Amino acid sequence: MNIEFDNIKTASAIPGAAAMIETFRAIGYSLETAVADIVDNSISASAKNVWINRIWKGGDSIVTIRDDGRGMSGDDIIQAMRPGAQNPLEERSATDLGRFGLGLKTASFSQCRTLTVMSKTQGQSPEFWTWSLDHVARCDRWELVHWCPEGFEHELDDLASGTIVIWTDPDRIIPAATKAENENAKRKFSEAFDRVKKHLSMTFHRFLEAKSVAIHWGGHEIDPWNPFCPKESKVQIMPSEQIGEQVTVKGYILPHKNNFSSETAYRQAEGIFGFSAHQGFYVYRGDRLLLAGDWLGLFRKEEAYKLVRIQINLPNSVDSDWQIDIRKAKAAPPVGCRQQLESYARQACNKGSEVYRHRGRILKQRAGQEFQSLWLEKKKDNKWSFVVNREHALVRNIRELAKENPDQAIDMLLKFVEESIPAKTIYVREANDDDSQKQPYSDMDPGLLRTMIKQIHERQLDQGLTPEQSRLALKQMEPFNEYENLIDELQ
Ligand SMILES: Nc1ncnc2c1ncn2[C@@H]1O[C@H](COP(=O)(O)OP(=O)(O)O)[C@@H](O)[C@H]1O
Ligand SMILES: [Mg+2]
Repeated sequence: MNIEFDNIKTASAIPGAAAMIETFRAIGYSLETAVADIVDNSISASAKNVWINRIWKGGDSIVTIRDDGRGMSGDDIIQAMRPGAQNPLEERSATDLGRFGLGLKTASFSQCRTLTVMSKTQGQSPEFWTWSLDHVARCDRWELVHWCPEGFEHELDDLASGTIVIWTDPDRIIPAATKAENENAKRKFSEAFDRVKKHLSMTFHRFLEAKSVAIHWGGHEIDPWNPFCPKESKVQIMPSEQIGEQVTVKGYILPHKNNFSSETAYRQAEGIFGFSAHQGFYVYRGDRLLLAGDWLGLFRKEEAYKLVRIQINLPNSVDSDWQIDIRKAKAAPPVGCRQQLESYARQACNKGSEVYRHRGRILKQRAGQEFQSLWLEKKKDNKWSFVVNREHALVRNIRELAKENPDQAIDMLLKFVEESIPAKTIYVREANDDDSQKQPYSDMDPGLLRTMIKQIHERQLDQGLTPEQSRLALKQMEPFNEYENLIDELQ
């Protein structure tokens, strides 16, 4: 488009402050991602320590995130408080975890109505400014207020330089009218922050491991949670691969439960949402984890791949190619990388599902020649099916029992079949190739079906059903519903 901007009539269209600032609340942060975004700023400001504090006072609770980074002058605070403080297109230093110049404001407003930033640089006294959604709503202007919550004036006194972000009126964490005595609300508040703690130990694990930053939580430091279990000796590590000039991927296959060093280590490795949810790509931007287990739209999550975790390392210079969002909770690989990512991930997934097949084989080997499987895998015309082993001692015994007590025998047989369905193996086969399983009843003898249908039909007629009703009942009965033609043959 060629518009002559120099010689054209214009009209001002400034966003309405009160309405616009409310929309900042709706960007979709969770409490975890919001706190992590504030911690990003501390790390970008070269903090060595971050202290997170929450003070329970019901609806008047307060959350603070304090750091000993380089701090800001009064003017810097005003600049930092401006939405869009820095253009996202500007180049950033490699250690800068920011991007849109919005995080401080959007993350805070997603949780609270009042955001205070107090900060000091080396050798200067602290300065502060506050965004109050209530003030903006009243005056409808982009206007900070010079206010600091009571009792926080000296929070930076013990630091040479640093910043404290204070969230008051946290109405998105606890409803405003909640009383401090409300034990139920207090418990929920504390549980919400347990999740925050876990999220931080995962998101910043590389910083915590390298001890470049310590995150203090109440009286202790948060421990790192490393998704790739570096202390476990039986993790399979795939060779790392380069994607384009700047991106690397590296696959890890975690060991089977029994091959972890301990039950505790296995539980620990599971992560916040469990193994199944934590399979997939782990996208790092710099050393900061953005996504902890996501197939980025390339695969579905499958039980068979739950031990597969693949690291993707991005520099912050590829943000726009990878569509990093404001919350830093989403990424999408550029079209040019997809194929390579997919084929790398497929190899990893094959190795991942092999862990289970391998496990099955070991169990059989342990039992040696004597091993009697209740289920047998059959392959015919390239299709897998599973059949109950008629030669199994159990089946033979039940046959004997049936002569004396048919009811008990049938119940027992059904019970054993139900309990022993090889669900995991079926799942793995299905996941690897969802076309490889035999269609149900596809090689059932039609003579057998006819006999069954006829017998049930006759019984139903004896019970007083009309032929019409009986045929209808059969058509609604698995598996006969698939064989309407056989049912229609009935007289
Ligand atoms: N804890 C902090 N210490 C020093 N400077 C900070 C801190 N938090 C925010 N800032 C400044 O405020 C700016 C705006 O922060 P933010 O809104 O999160 O956007 P972004 O991180 O994308 O730049 C940052 O670029 C930084 O200059
Ligand atoms: Mg930021």
